[in-house]
Amino acid sequence: MATERTLIIIKPDAMEKGALGKILDRFIEEGFKVVALKMFRFTPQKAGEFYHVHRERPFFGELVEFMSSGPVVAAVLEGEDAIRRVRQIIGPTDSEEARKTAPNSIRALFGTDKGKNAIHASDSPESAREEICFIFSGLEMV
Ligand code: RTP
Ligand code: MG
Repeated sequence: MATERTLIIIKPDAMEKGALGKILDRFIEEGFKVVALKMFRFTPQKAGEFYHVHRERPFFGELVEFMSSGPVVAAVLEGEDAIRRVRQIIGPTDSEEARKTAPNSIRALFGTDKGKNAIHASDSPESAREEICFIFSGLEMV
């Protein structure tokens, strides 16, 4: 199994709930190394660029509005099989479903519904590469 890097973003709803520390701690306890970290606020333009694959979807406007509604924290996590394992730890997209099928997942614990779901994580090696470069410069990664 290869060592991988993946991007997570703690979304505005989880930041508002004060869940930042608990979420980061969960990944550290699961054995991941934090190799980049920063707090910022997306402009609607930049949130739309980040989620460009969803631009034709009916929820795109709502997603852009939500992601730019408050500060977020992005981190790059490194570990064995990181992309798949981090997606498993965050749980399914819909937080209500997560509470039924993955009760210890981050979305079950801190998300509200399908839109406001506490955390983003890259879903493939290609998206991880693209998303890490979109948010971080080489100098910001250790
Ligand atoms: P993410 O990209 O944020 O990690 O989430 P995901 O892969 O689990 O889900 P994806 O299909 O990529 O959707 C991106 C984000 O759009 C919002 N969404 N809202 N109202 C809706 O039906 C709906 N569906 C998706 C969520 O914030 C979701 O995480
Ligand atoms: Mg996604």
